[in-house]
Amino acid sequence: MPVLQSLQLRCYNRTMADFKVNDIIEEICQLSKDDSGEISRLAFTDSWMRAHTYLKQFFEKLKFKTFVDQAGNLHGQTGGSGEVVLTGSHVDTVRNGGKYDGLYGVVGSALAVFRLLNKHGMPKKTLEVIAFSEEEGSRFPFSFWGSKNLVGGVDWNLISALKDQNGESFAPALERQGFIYTQDCARRNDISAYVELHIEQGGVLEKNNMEIGLVTSIVGQKRFIVEVFGEANHAGTTPMTYRKDSAYTSAAIISEIIKRAREHGPPMVLTVGQIEFRPNVSNVVPAYAQFSVDIRHTDTDILNRFTDEVLEFVNKTAREKDTTCQTRITVDDKPVYMDDGIMEIISNACQSRKVKYMKMPSGAGHDGQHISKLAAVGMIFVPSKKGISHSPMEFTEASQLELGIDILEETLYKLAY
Ligand code: GLV
Ligand code: MN
Ligand code: MN
Repeated sequence: MPVLQSLQLRCYNRTMADFKVNDIIEEICQLSKDDSGEISRLAFTDSWMRAHTYLKQFFEKLKFKTFVDQAGNLHGQTGGSGEVVLTGSHVDTVRNGGKYDGLYGVVGSALAVFRLLNKHGMPKKTLEVIAFSEEEGSRFPFSFWGSKNLVGGVDWNLISALKDQNGESFAPALERQGFIYTQDCARRNDISAYVELHIEQGGVLEKNNMEIGLVTSIVGQKRFIVEVFGEANHAGTTPMTYRKDSAYTSAAIISEIIKRAREHGPPMVLTVGQIEFRPNVSNVVPAYAQFSVDIRHTDTDILNRFTDEVLEFVNKTAREKDTTCQTRITVDDKPVYMDDGIMEIISNACQSRKVKYMKMPSGAGHDGQHISKLAAVGMIFVPSKKGISHSPMEFTEASQLELGIDILEETLYKLAY
């Protein structure tokens, strides 16, 4: 594995006192930048692998017992027995993403557990830190690969053949980094609780001058791909009314569905973030178009109804414009509610420190929504400057990052000691 062999063991040169969350995040982001200097740790790419390798060495430095499962999830366990209290987040990012989404939760959790071990010795329950291998769905049209593998029931036959934008399939991409997926991962039955630390990725905490967000629920989301089939033809000689123009159909659909989501009002959100034309040539009417649709809402019925209306409009518009279409669902996740007991522990931790906190739903998807099928789940948010995320502009002050780790530390103490 060339990346593994060539990676400098940078974190081995540090003393324990040096482990500051921001330094580690910074170092991982520097070494895992892609060729164009962006933070694009798409799943199983070399950039992703460099971060993964660093994190494994970091976990070992903290004296965790590490293992990597066949889905590429990195685990770091302490001693303790019986039940597992799990904490962590994901290591992948969106294309040209920020420094904190996912990575903060992984590094912050590792530090919280490390500090607990130093202060209190071995926990009663096993504390386990996890770096989920894939959460974003930014490379392959499938999300939450990491956490879904802990829950069991991933359909490997379906997933292994999925292709990224360069035509590379999921299975060889995973294998290229040394992960051989031989059978579906078994459902974990030893986890009693999961707590995730994450940046808010919105501007609610900042606007309300709050230090911590106590997450109450995670929105439901549906993502699908729309393919529109028309006919390639000459851009100069084909009169407008003779065309089977996949761009025209797509534009009409996209503009209308975004308008409908705006009219629906919060918390409904709809995003078309990815689009492709073929042959993608300026003087050819495009024969083919493909675009993504991501719809989210906190209420399952509203989400289902709105999605059905969108799909109906897609089909109707393709027909009316003399084209045809196909739609393929890639994400279909129901809203999930956080565990009352864990919420109370987080709330008490904030109150005892006189930390300003507020309850809030999460509009972003998180691994916890899948782990909730196995265990009680809680989430802690820290503010995001100007509410920006999934962007290189993502930023959270070091003191806010550290406060989040303190609250997580206290929560894990109550759950595992
Ligand atoms: C994950 O970050 C998502 O909510 O898209
Ligand atoms: Mn994200
Ligand atoms: Mn995230």
